Amino acid sequence: MQVRRFGVSLEENLLESLDELVEKHQFPNRSQAIRFLIKKNLVEEKWKGNEDVAGAIVLVYDHHKRDLQNKSTDVQHAFHDLILSVQHVHLDHDNCLETIAVKGKAKELIDLSNKLIAIKGIKHGELVMSASE
Ligand code: NI
Repeated sequence: MQVRRFGVSLEENLLESLDELVEKHQFPNRSQAIRFLIKKNLVEEKWKGNEDVAGAIVLVYDHHKRDLQNKSTDVQHAFHDLILSVQHVHLDHDNCLETIAVKGKAKELIDLSNKLIAIKGIKHGELVMSASE
């Protein structure tokens, strides 16, 4: 895609914030930071507008709790059309980390994520909101 140049006027404090962002994320330049912010906003708008999006649900739980695994499997089967893949990693003797890649309408993915994270015994759960464009 063609890249176009344009001038940006910013207040001193906003420019400082932009440069802090460049440093924090180790962007090579300000253009990359602005590109990042625009994309971030586009993805947020897609999720708010219930558009087709993609993401990942991350769950950490104790695998000794068999009820929990059964419930999680039930929920995942009920929403199988939204799930692209499931990766299960054994973190240590007790804990498992599951990464569930999902794709579909934003509201359905949020619903699925809420149902999984709410299962009793889940130690940590988070939905990473992304998109394919
Ligand atoms: Ni495990």
